[in-house]
Amino acid sequence: MAIKTVPLRVPPPASLPFVSINMAMTADGKIASENHRITSFGGDYDQRHLLELRSEADAVMAGARTLEADEITLGPGPLPYRRQRLQRGLAEYNLRIVVSGSGSISPRAAIFQKRLSPVLVLTTKAASPSRLEQLEPVAAEILVCGSKSIDFRAALAYLKNAWKVQRLLCEGGGELNEALFAAGLVDELHLTICPFIFGGQTAPTLAGGTGVAHLQNAQSLVPKSRKRVRDRVFLVYEVKKHAAPSDPS
Ligand SMILES: NC(=O)c1ccc[n+]([C@@H]2O[C@H](COP(=O)([O-])OP(=O)(O)OC[C@H]3O[C@@H](n4cnc5c(N)ncnc54)[C@H](OP(=O)(O)O)[C@@H]3O)[C@@H](O)[C@H]2O)c1
Repeated sequence: MAIKTVPLRVPPPASLPFVSINMAMTADGKIASENHRITSFGGDYDQRHLLELRSEADAVMAGARTLEADEITLGPGPLPYRRQRLQRGLAEYNLRIVVSGSGSISPRAAIFQKRLSPVLVLTTKAASPSRLEQLEPVAAEILVCGSKSIDFRAALAYLKNAWKVQRLLCEGGGELNEALFAAGLVDELHLTICPFIFGGQTAPTLAGGTGVAHLQNAQSLVPKSRKRVRDRVFLVYEVKKHAAPSDPS
C-alpha cells in the first residue's frame, strides 16, 4: 500500500532537514514568462550549478506546475555528479519529491517515466481517490499531509525520519517556494540573476501565494556570498528563521 497519512504533530526543529531553494530569476524578478513558455534561461553554468547543488542533496523537490512545464526529472545528472554523491556518502541517485496538493500532477509527467530513484508524492485529503489511484503505480509513496494544503513541517519531519533526508533541495516553482517560506522551513536561497527583463504582471516570481501585507512579516535574508560568471550573478542568502509554532496539543 503506497498511500500513507503523515501524522500532523509539530516536530522539534532538529527533526527537520536542511532546506535549500535554488532558482533562476530575470532582473525584473520573473522565474518564467507570462505565458510560461520561457522556462529555461539560466544558461550553461547555471545548469552545472543546479547539478552541483543536487549532488549535495538527499532529495530534490518541485511543485506540480514546474514538473509539467518541462521534461524535468529531478535526477542527479551525468556520472561525474553521481560520483561526487558517492564520495559524499550519499546514494548515487537522489530521492525525488513531487508536491501536488490536489493530486493534479499527470502520471505521464517526465519525472514518473524516468525510473532513476523513488518518487514520493506529497498531497492532501483534497486529492480525489481516482487521482490517487492513477498516481499509485508510478509513485513509491503517496503521502497525505494535511486536509486542504500540505503541512510541510510534518511532511519534512516524516521525510527525515522515514527516508533519512538530511538535505532537501527545492527547485520551485513560486507557489511551492512561498509555502515553504511561510512555514519558516527554508534555510538557504540560491539565486541566479539572469540579464533579461520579461515583464508581464502575472508572470511567476520567486515566491507566489498571497504574500505579506506588512514589512515586519516579510521573510528576511542575510547575504552569504555572490559570484559573477560572465553575464550571470550567483547569490546565496541565509534565510532568517522565525520562531517555530508551538505544539497545540
Ligand atoms: N526560473 C526557475 O528557476 C524556475 C524554477 C522552477 C519553476 N519555474 C517556473 O515556474 C512556473 C511554475 O511555478 P508555479 O508557482 O506556477 O507552480 P509550482 O509551485 O511549481 O506548482 C504549483 C502546484 O504545486 C502544488 N503545490 C504547491 N504548493 C502547495 C501547497 N502549499 N499545498 C498543496 N499543493 C501545493 C499544487 O499542485 P496541485 O494543483 O496538484 O494541488 C500547485 O498547483 C513554471 O512556469 C516553471 O517553468 C522556474
